[in-house]
Amino acid sequence: MSKFMDWIDARFPATKMWEDHLSKYYAPKNFNFLYFFGSLALLVLVNQIVTGVWLTMSFTPSAEEAFASVEYIMRDVEYGWILRYLHSTGASAFFIVVYLHMFRGLLYGSYQKPRELVWLFGMLIYLALMAEAFMGYLLPWGQMSYWGAQVIISLFGAIPVIGGDLTQWIRGDYLISGITLNRFFTLHVVALPIVILGLVVLHILALHEVGSNNPDGVDIKKKKDENGIPLDGIPFHPYYTVKDIVGVVVFLFVFCAVVFFFPEMGGYFLEKPNFEQANAFKTPEHIAPVWYFTPFYAILRAVPDKLMGVIAMGAAIAVLFVLPWLDRSPVRSMRYKGWISKVFLLVFCIAFVILGILGVLAPTPGRTLLSQVCTVLYFAYFVLMPFYTRLEKTKPVPERVTG
Ligand code: HEM
Repeated sequence: MSKFMDWIDARFPATKMWEDHLSKYYAPKNFNFLYFFGSLALLVLVNQIVTGVWLTMSFTPSAEEAFASVEYIMRDVEYGWILRYLHSTGASAFFIVVYLHMFRGLLYGSYQKPRELVWLFGMLIYLALMAEAFMGYLLPWGQMSYWGAQVIISLFGAIPVIGGDLTQWIRGDYLISGITLNRFFTLHVVALPIVILGLVVLHILALHEVGSNNPDGVDIKKKKDENGIPLDGIPFHPYYTVKDIVGVVVFLFVFCAVVFFFPEMGGYFLEKPNFEQANAFKTPEHIAPVWYFTPFYAILRAVPDKLMGVIAMGAAIAVLFVLPWLDRSPVRSMRYKGWISKVFLLVFCIAFVILGILGVLAPTPGRTLLSQVCTVLYFAYFVLMPFYTRLEKTKPVPERVTG
């Protein structure tokens, strides 16, 4: 075995990569459960790719046959139902895991220097993931697939001058048709998965270049032993590979419970109108995107003017990209930031959840007002950050990690 590895290592850096990224990658010893979500995102990514490949074997990407081919997968293809439910539940699980992963970043200031690129690659992954989910949702060719895509693509029509041509270019037709389905299929199964995989590699390479942050936000590289190993660091393998398995087991319990017992999740993971085939002549009574898009959809609807709404929705995502440069705090972790930062993060999270709920519901004057208040609170977190992070009093950060 060792001779074989020597042969490989003389030609390919297998042992070096194993050591750099696992057995000699020193991670802070105080990771808590919020650090499970990076590896869980990797797990869900693998699930989506494997089940997606098998679904593609039996799916027909044409307007005439797509809906029926999904029913064929559900009823006639052996284990087709489990492949589809693993994939549809996986889509929602992806966003749950990624939102918690991003929340961890906000809580512990993981986006701050020197991890700005880790954050930026993460944001690019998030954008690609949204595009991937949006295009995947058109494929079963149900009523919500069709009309959801109709609403979102028509938003581009609000852009002055080029709007009309742009929507036509995206659809490849005068209305959403089999041509649109075909290009979304190509992007969903080939182009975007490659982009996402590439970005995930860059994300992890960037992280391993600077080292992981931790719940204390303490730089573990400042205190090293005589061999140059961080005193508060432990090798990722076997310590965190084993610890991550605990997270995987807990996650799989919940995930499998959903897959086997509530795959539709009351209409949130698989929406009810999508059990009816797309019909260009019949608009569903109430069109709402899947839950993971609804906070941004609520921001869009909160603004009365269509173009301004599109701009607000775009800005809500764009502002996350510049987050590393908005936070002026001398400390990273929320543990040592002042109470103003804590209140702002809490209010931001509550506003995001309320927007998510409002985005599912049909608008009423009261709900629109509430969504306007929450939109202001959402942006206040970012816009005021340079001020409150500089002004507030922070607690002293310990020399070594705690706990
Ligand atoms: C497919 C999606 C993603 C995958 C597979 C992924 C994977 C990972 C992994 C394995 C880690 C190291 C373990 C950990 O710290 O949890 C990590 C760290 C990190 N990720 Fe992601 N990630 C994804 C999306 C994102 C997104 C959308 C963001 C934010 C915009 C993000 C921001 C970060 C940050 C800031 C860290 C460093 C955290 C720290 O050291 O405290 N990631 N990611």
